[in-house]
Amino acid sequence: MFASLSLGLALLPFALGAVHDVQVGGKGGELVFQPEAIFAAAGDQVVFHFNPKNHTVTQSSFADPCGLKEGGFNSGFQPVAANQTTLPTYTVSVNNTDPIWVYCAQAARTANSHCGKGMVFAINCGSDDKPNSFTNFKKSALAVGAALATEAPAATTTAAYGGLTIAAAPTPTLVTSVITLQSSTWTTTYSSYPNSPAPTPATLDGAVHKVIVGGPGKLAFDPPRLTALPRDVIVFEFHQKNHTVTQSSFEDPCRPLTADGQKGFDSGFNPVADSVTEFPTWNYTVKDTAPVWAYCAQLAGSSHCGAGMVFAINSDESSGRSFNAFQGVAKTLNGTAASSTAPADTKGTGNGAISTRSGFALGVTAFFALVASLL
Ligand SMILES: *[C@@H]1O[C@H](CO)[C@@H](O)[C@H](O)[C@H]1NC(C)=O
Ligand SMILES: *[C@@H]1O[C@H](CO)[C@@H](O)[C@H](O)[C@H]1NC(C)=O
Ligand SMILES: *[C@@H]1O[C@H](CO)[C@@H](O)[C@H](O)[C@H]1NC(C)=O
Ligand SMILES: *[C@@H]1O[C@H](CO)[C@@H](O)[C@H](O)[C@H]1NC(C)=O
Ligand SMILES: *[C@@H]1O[C@H](CO)[C@@H](O)[C@H](O)[C@H]1NC(C)=O
Ligand SMILES: *[C@@H]1O[C@H](CO)[C@@H](O)[C@H](O)[C@H]1NC(C)=O
Repeated sequence: MFASLSLGLALLPFALGAVHDVQVGGKGGELVFQPEAIFAAAGDQVVFHFNPKNHTVTQSSFADPCGLKEGGFNSGFQPVAANQTTLPTYTVSVNNTDPIWVYCAQAARTANSHCGKGMVFAINCGSDDKPNSFTNFKKSALAVGAALATEAPAATTTAAYGGLTIAAAPTPTLVTSVITLQSSTWTTTYSSYPNSPAPTPATLDGAVHKVIVGGPGKLAFDPPRLTALPRDVIVFEFHQKNHTVTQSSFEDPCRPLTADGQKGFDSGFNPVADSVTEFPTWNYTVKDTAPVWAYCAQLAGSSHCGAGMVFAINSDESSGRSFNAFQGVAKTLNGTAASSTAPADTKGTGNGAISTRSGFALGVTAFFALVASLL
């Protein structure tokens, strides 16, 4: 056996090289090659196994880590469903010991570029003390990603009226994931918002959150914001005075959300006398993890919204669209110091709100969609 093998090796040096297996993407959708770098001899074969999502194995160069090398190899896109058990493969033959640089071309030249997020691989790269080390290669791929991320959408937009500059709406990312709840497992594609919770319902019924609306001498929601998961129920308990909880948008905090024939939620007015001890409640069931903005629509006396009586679900507190920023917009637009440039129109036609509204609608419909589109 040994004799015939070495004879074969002598006759067919390229066909009997070693086989190196490389995983493209993680089992949980991570944007990595595993291992990230290998050494291979001439005649070896590298077999790439495509894990879930939709990746490529594309040859680049050290100088341009996220760009196709002229004449380089390219597996093309390999979409793999989260529950797929047979994974497609792509084999590259190593013909010499020159370095080979590889990246995933998904979402190329966008802020979601897999390469820009560090999804790169190398064969026969320089050792760590050399300029052409894997570390330096990955660093320059990440730098490409960082540049793409800052080029991304404009950082600011304007509020619905009053000429106020506010942080632009975040761009949701399309995410495919497998959700398991009790005995059911399904694959879902949904819009993920920056720093939003994972859309994994903890129980079939969801958690219950209580929010006190108003009360003696209080124009506030308590708590004013919370983090909630799809299926969670928020019980609004109306205390003294005469309040509402009405959905709006970040751009237009003090007017009802209306877009594309869709209406936001609205509890209607809940007058509560001073002597009352049984408080009326109104429930809202959370549909997805997109930020939700709301306000109290009472105008009698003074604008409750303009006084800062606003509420948020899943606001991104590390962004320019935090709860405090939202409350600031409400006070500026509808507070006692609000400028007289406010429109007389009360129908809510602010253009600035459109992007958030459609983003929200996408999130709602996408969450329960049993689709397997992959990114
Ligand atoms: C994978 O999930 C999809 C969508 O839920 C389903 O249609 C398909 O039958 C599943 N395939 C396997 C092998 O379980
Ligand atoms: C090695 O040579 C084969 C045959 O010419 C070619 O198909 C393959 O792409 C080459 N491998 C690399 C890494 O260039
Ligand atoms: C509650 O407020 C609304 C709007 O200002 C008003 O129409 C309604 O009459 C009020 N209800 C009571 C009982 O004060
Ligand atoms: C609101 O939700 C709470 C908690 O789940 C529940 O006890 C209550 O019956 C609900 N109220 C309405 C009107 O659905
Ligand atoms: C806020 O101001 C706008 C523009 O003047 C007005 O249409 C809207 O009714 C006000 N809303 C509240 C709750 O103050
Ligand atoms: C895979 O990604 C490519 C490039 O983004 C896209 O054109 C293709 O539709 C995707 N395939 C699936 C099944 O999602």
